[in-house]
Amino acid sequence: MKVNQNEKLLSLKKALNACKKAFYYSLLFSFISNLMMLAIPIYSLQVLDRVISSASIETLVMLTLVAFLALTCLSLIQGVRSFVMIKLGSWLDKRMSPVLFAHGIANSAYKRTISSGQHLQDMASIKNFITGQAMSSLLDAPWSMIFIIFLFFIHPAIGIVSIIGGVFLFIIAIMNEFSTKSAIESAGEHSIKSSSYADTAARNAEAIEAMGMLENVTKIWQESNTKSMILQEHAGRKSAIYSSITRFFRLAVQVGVTGVGAYYVLQAQMSVGAMIAAGILVGRALAPFETAIGSWKGFISARKSLKRLTQSLEHSPVRASSIELPEPKGNISFENVYFAPMGTKKPTISAVNFKLNAGDVLAVIGPSAAGKSTIAKLLTGVWQPASGNVRMDGADVYNWRRDNFGKYVGYLPQDVELFAGTIKDNISRMNSDATDEEVIEAAQLANVHELILRLPEDYKTNIGLDGMTLSAGQRQRIGLARAYFGNPKLVVLDEPNSSLDNEGDMALMRAIQNGKKRNITTVIISHRPAILQVADKVLLMSEGKIADFGDRDTVINNMREKGVLPKLKAVQG
Ligand SMILES: Nc1ncnc2c1ncn2[C@@H]1O[C@H](COP(=O)(O)OP(=O)(O)O)[C@@H](O)[C@H]1O
Ligand SMILES: [Mg+2]
Repeated sequence: MKVNQNEKLLSLKKALNACKKAFYYSLLFSFISNLMMLAIPIYSLQVLDRVISSASIETLVMLTLVAFLALTCLSLIQGVRSFVMIKLGSWLDKRMSPVLFAHGIANSAYKRTISSGQHLQDMASIKNFITGQAMSSLLDAPWSMIFIIFLFFIHPAIGIVSIIGGVFLFIIAIMNEFSTKSAIESAGEHSIKSSSYADTAARNAEAIEAMGMLENVTKIWQESNTKSMILQEHAGRKSAIYSSITRFFRLAVQVGVTGVGAYYVLQAQMSVGAMIAAGILVGRALAPFETAIGSWKGFISARKSLKRLTQSLEHSPVRASSIELPEPKGNISFENVYFAPMGTKKPTISAVNFKLNAGDVLAVIGPSAAGKSTIAKLLTGVWQPASGNVRMDGADVYNWRRDNFGKYVGYLPQDVELFAGTIKDNISRMNSDATDEEVIEAAQLANVHELILRLPEDYKTNIGLDGMTLSAGQRQRIGLARAYFGNPKLVVLDEPNSSLDNEGDMALMRAIQNGKKRNITTVIISHRPAILQVADKVLLMSEGKIADFGDRDTVINNMREKGVLPKLKAVQG
């Protein structure tokens, strides 16, 4: 798998860079709003020092009006900033969520552990942080300097006390980061683990109920859930302690500044107004530290989420081709193909070489875990070979653009799942533009038209609605129609008859024969020897290698000579 800088990672980086630009504006907003915030201390200073001494109502009215004006500006600017942040959040979501959804699907096709839901949750945590309170207080922090400069103007001693306070709070913030980081991060990991376990459990609900596994399963789930809870509690406690210390310090510094101010008032070096103003200013200057510590958890989670996303995107499969290829005929070649599942070294498929001509029907047989389904996934470009190539009409199937490839290929996976939606939606591959004719044509090609007509609302029957579920055999047959939708050139069927009755089996045989008339290359994996009747060629897999490949009769004769066929029949017939 190529792990170079790929498009999806690039689009995440671009999106975050665009956010950076918004932050520069936000920083400017924050500068102006902090300037406006000076209105209150300046007002207090002026009122106490000038109005009270001069008893001028006119000045008071003027000052009050100016202060109101400044506060109006402040509120407007803060409102606009919030609007911009909300907009930025939606923009980021709209831009990245489809990319991450698609990435999640591509990744799940490879490795079933990462769900696309996790990526979206990570994105949400980044978005929440970027647009939330923590971010705006971080953006306010640099402008605390304005207040501190003002404090120096009022009196150098007051400025020094405030700076010392600021440095202390900064140190506390750093300590908070170090002492809660690992707990918050591992709490997140455990929470992901427990929710993914809950997903698996829900998928196995029937087995759990039938065999009374609930207690055991709950116990396992609770382990990771409890771990996450304990860690969260731990981090929460520490964070609460640091928050209290911060608040204490901020208020203490505020008191200290007022005290120092009062001292200088007594020394007649400062006015009462300046003393009051200094108290207000230092409170403002140190406020961002307190907010930052209070919402630091969101920052840590967002940072972890970004790391997880980046890592996952770095390893996302890259498909090289972006061009639209012409309609293929359906000639297939496996050229010295090796495959090892992601994260493993030992190949599950080695040195696979074979060719099919357009219109050939190939039966892939062999014991369980021989690598048959792997062949199907390599052939449909779901997986990328570790080395070697799988080609259709000379073009590498893995690199083939998916939307383009899908037009010419039908695939029925071994465990067929249908989407929530109507039968028509499912057969048409969820394409809402598909016509009834196209859908019926596919259903007829797959010989399931009659079966569908017997359903409560035929093609409009909604699966997954009002308890409407299909049997495994019915799902397989609808899945077969979906594979035949849109006149494919290649159809790959992975154990399409594992749940079929006799009627379904006959329908499948007829479908393959019909397909052959249309020159559709068909690869069918099956345990049932009956399928050999419709095959032109046979591929016998054993332990990831080709045990035999050739015309049907030749392979069958070879198997008879080796005495493999009767055994195969006995086991699987
Ligand atoms: N996603 C996967 N991750 C790890 N191993 C896998 C994966 N899929 C299949 N395998 C392994 O590859 C081998 C071949 O599997 P498969 O092609 O499904 O066999 P078959 O379809 O012939 O029963 C098996 O040993 C299986 O355990
Ligand atoms: Mg299989």
